[in-house]
Formats: sequence, C-alpha cells, structure tokens
Amino acid sequence: MREKPLLEIKGLKTYFYTYEGTVKALHNVNITINEGEIFGLVGETGCGKSVTALSTMRLIESPGKIVGGEILFQGEDLTKLSEEEMQKIRGNKISMIFQDPMASLNPLMKIGKQIAEVLEVHQKHYDKNELRQRILNILRMVRLPSPERIMESYPFELSGGMRQRVMIAMMLSTNPKLLIADEPTTALDVTIQAQILRILKEMKEKLNISIWLITHDLGVVAETCDRVCVMYAGNVVECADVVEIFKNPLHPYTKGLLKAIPSVNRRVEELNTIPGSVPNLINPPPGCRFHPRCSKRTEICDKVEPKSIQVSENHTVSCHLYSNGG
Ligand SMILES: Nc1ncnc2c1ncn2[C@@H]1O[C@H](COP(=O)(O)OP(=O)(O)O)[C@@H](O)[C@H]1O
Ligand SMILES: [Mg+2]
Repeated sequence: MREKPLLEIKGLKTYFYTYEGTVKALHNVNITINEGEIFGLVGETGCGKSVTALSTMRLIESPGKIVGGEILFQGEDLTKLSEEEMQKIRGNKISMIFQDPMASLNPLMKIGKQIAEVLEVHQKHYDKNELRQRILNILRMVRLPSPERIMESYPFELSGGMRQRVMIAMMLSTNPKLLIADEPTTALDVTIQAQILRILKEMKEKLNISIWLITHDLGVVAETCDRVCVMYAGNVVECADVVEIFKNPLHPYTKGLLKAIPSVNRRVEELNTIPGSVPNLINPPPGCRFHPRCSKRTEICDKVEPKSIQVSENHTVSCHLYSNGG
C-alpha cells in the first residue's frame, strides 16, 4: 500500500500553566497520519488525546500553550501559522467533531439552515435550489432517513445518533482532507455506535479522506481503524497496524488495555483492569511514566525515559523491555 503522510506530529509538547503548577499534558507526542487511512489514538481518560487533537487544531486556550514540537500538515508547520492562516485550515482542510454534538449545534436553528451556513462560509454562493439539493445530498450521504424532514428539524427533535450523523455530514460538507473525531460514539449506545463507525468507514472510502478517531476503547479501534497509536500520560508509547497490535502487542500498557476489552466469553466482572490510575501531570513519575503501574518494571524504569524503538516496518514501541535487543 502506498503511504503518504498527511499529518506528522513530531515531539509535540503542550503545557497548562495553572495555579497548582504546570500541567505537562503532552510531553513527547509523535504521530503520523497517512492519506486515506483511519487512524486511531487510544488511551485511558486523561492521557492527552484531546489535548493532542486540540493542539493540532490550534484550539488550546490560555493557560494552555504549545511549548515545543512541530505539527506538519501537508508539509506545513501549523504551529507557525498566524491565527488568520489557521482559520483557513480549520473547517476547510481539517474538521473536528466531538463527543457531544449538541454542544456544536445551534439549538435554535433548523438543521438545514445550519448546514447552509457552513457551506456558505467556506464555499461559493449557491442559488436557493442548488443549496437545497446540496444539503439533501449531504444528509443522504450519512444515511439519514427522510432528509427533507431533517432539514426542517431543530437539533432537540433528533436522537443522539442522528445528531452525530448531522455533525459528520456538516463537517464533511466542505471536503476536508482530515476529519478528527474525538470520542464520537462514547455517549451513544452500542447499536448506534456501530452505525456511526460504519458511516465513518464509508465516508473514508467514498471521499478518500483521512480520519483521526480518538477513543478510550480498543474495541472501537479494532472495528474501524487501519493503524493505531497508544498514548499514556502525555506520550505515545506504541504504534502499529491494527492487526499487528492485536496479534503482537508489546508495551505492558497496551497489553493491559487489551485485557480490558469486554468480549462474548469474558464477562464484565472478569475484566482485567490495569491497577492504579493515570498520574497527575503536574508531577509525573520520573523515567517511564508508566513504571508505577507496570508489572514488568526493572531498575532502569524509574530512572531513564525509554526511547522509541522500531521493532518492525510498521511497529514502534517505547519501553525498556525492548531497548537492548529485547
Ligand atoms: N484546560 C486545562 N487546564 C489544565 N489541565 C488540563 C486542561 N485540559 C486538559 N488538561 C490536562 O491535560 C491532561 C490530558 O487531558 P486530555 O487530553 O483531556 O485527556 P484525554 O482526552 O486523553 O482524556 C490531563 O491531565 C488534563 O487534566
Ligand atoms: Mg478527551
């Protein structure tokens, strides 16, 4: 498969300067998203997934700040752009949807009108009929039933799953190159979740875009993604093809996440959760940030930060277990 990078995040550091101290939310984030792939970023709550996405969109607000690294999008470093230049990228070339579509939709405006506004801000002016046809097509694309009726509905008249489909439609209406979806199915029940994931896959095929899917659930990654990176406490700790990560997980954290996926023959109460919790990032553990929770830790782990090691063509891991030839 030809792989061409669309987004390359290198050594990204984002801090929040709070009264309690500096939250080192992103310490060393390295991610590549290729053209035409669904890329998954996975990790427990508080690992820095949303901060990575918001940094990419340059939506980190004070007291937060990107303090180091590069975010190359089609070769251009987004961290160096002015706010004005960034506005041309946001919504046009990179779009983002969130867990709660209600927060992004205007509760007082009909769905059709909201999509029309997005289209008119980003593209040429349409005549009335052309615009209506365009909106109907967009709603049909995400398989919304009776799009004529949906156009005339207010957000509160739709179910959570329908609202999320409207958001996906709206964000894709401007033909972005990359759609970032931050926990888009977390608030939905399992059946609706599966529908939304199927639509994202269809959109990738039809529109040939890249999708960056953020989730705490490796089950979602298995169903949807081509490649995945695992994030822990502000660092990317492992990246691989999805098939590879399930067949041959290397990092003890990744192994722990895999054991926590519910399955048909594993009841919820039997699930292995990783002991402990994600550390406070004002004072993160020294050395490998995962060492206090790691059953495989050795002497070096609380002293030296592990470097990223390329174990095979499409597999990297940052863990001392693999540093001296394994
Ligand atoms: N506005 C903020 N102020 C201070 N700390 C923040 C802020 N936003 C996020 N953080 C911290 O950054 C870390 C990563 O958060 P986040 O990216 O939201 O995690 P995830 O999306 O993986 O659940 C957490 O420790 C969180 O407390
Ligand atoms: Mg988040």
